[in-house]
Amino acid sequence: MPYAKIIGSGGYLPPRVVSNDELAAELATRQIETSDAWITERTGIRQRHIADPGVTSSQLAVKAAQHALADAGVSAEELDLIIVATSTPDFIFPSTACLVQAELGNKGAAAFDVQAVCSGFVYALTTADSFIRSGRAKHALVIGAEVFSSILDWNDRGTCVLFGDGAGAVVLKASEEPGILEAELNADGSLANILHVAGNVVDGKVTGDPFLRMDGQAVFKQAVTALAASAQSVCDKAGVSLEEIDWMVPHQANVRIINFLGRKLKLSDDKVVITVDQHANTSAASVPLAFDAARRDGRIKQGDLVLMQGVGGGFTWGSVLARM
Ligand SMILES: CC(C)(COP(=O)(O)OP(=O)(O)OC[C@H]1O[C@@H](n2cnc3c(N)ncnc32)[C@H](O)[C@@H]1OP(=O)(O)O)[C@@H](O)C(=O)NCCC(=O)NCCS
Repeated sequence: MPYAKIIGSGGYLPPRVVSNDELAAELATRQIETSDAWITERTGIRQRHIADPGVTSSQLAVKAAQHALADAGVSAEELDLIIVATSTPDFIFPSTACLVQAELGNKGAAAFDVQAVCSGFVYALTTADSFIRSGRAKHALVIGAEVFSSILDWNDRGTCVLFGDGAGAVVLKASEEPGILEAELNADGSLANILHVAGNVVDGKVTGDPFLRMDGQAVFKQAVTALAASAQSVCDKAGVSLEEIDWMVPHQANVRIINFLGRKLKLSDDKVVITVDQHANTSAASVPLAFDAARRDGRIKQGDLVLMQGVGGGFTWGSVLARM
């Protein structure tokens, strides 16, 4: 049975950077009080990239995909599977993956979206791994892409300071050499209400609330508990110990969640990739963007054992353990 090996990665962030100070000044014009000190202390976030009006997830995804394909040395025509993880698709349908496929110039590959919010990339990567392991695909493109700024209530300081826009991608290839060793996905739909966007379209009109709402403390508690258990479980299934992990690439929601998790798993800080300070929470894009950053600056190397973890709305969570 072939492994799915990660042979390339890429990322793309919209050029507009908004610092905490700039955001605080903007919110102050509407009498909403926040500060760089509050945001940095509670979340570790210092800035976020925000897409210009009209920029879509598929546009960000295409740029990240092009970087990943170039890095992998794979042409778009060679792809037989394209999965986009997003909660901010361009349209209700066609899927963002089909739009990306057309823009890349591929015809014929299976293309579909995965909706698992901030766990989306880990869900999509696990799905692509299953396609490759079963022989149903040989070259897969997996993307996480979001224009999360479009579903934020910019009058809610408890959420709007936390998120940003971006896209990250990886290319997987069927290989006899070890690649993805193990993966585990979980969900608990009974916790849907702690993080949701409860709007939909009825009779051509948006009904309900189209903005992100969150019980921050409930999400915090659930995230650390679920991710710690998932990390242990995926390592047990793969027959490796937590000490053997070279790099942990967790979902980039909050530096306090990441530090708490690192301590719980007894992973030293220098093994944990952090980009939340620069990108804020880019939902499905956060893990591939962090993974790509650490590959490109030479931290993640050939042969390294990497644990990627996602957690988010649904409630969903999951882990992928990969040998580079
Ligand atoms: C959101 C989060 C940073 C809030 O931190 P917290 O310590 O739990 O803060 P609280 O929600 O208890 O709010 C404390 C106070 O800060 C205020 N506050 C909230 N957002 C603020 C902001 N941006 N600026 C200033 N004050 C703010 C609250 O109104 C509250 O004020 P009060 O005490 O007068 O009522 C934290 O709960 C968190 O990170 N949760 C996880 C969120 C997450 O990662 N979500 C995505 C998962 S995929």
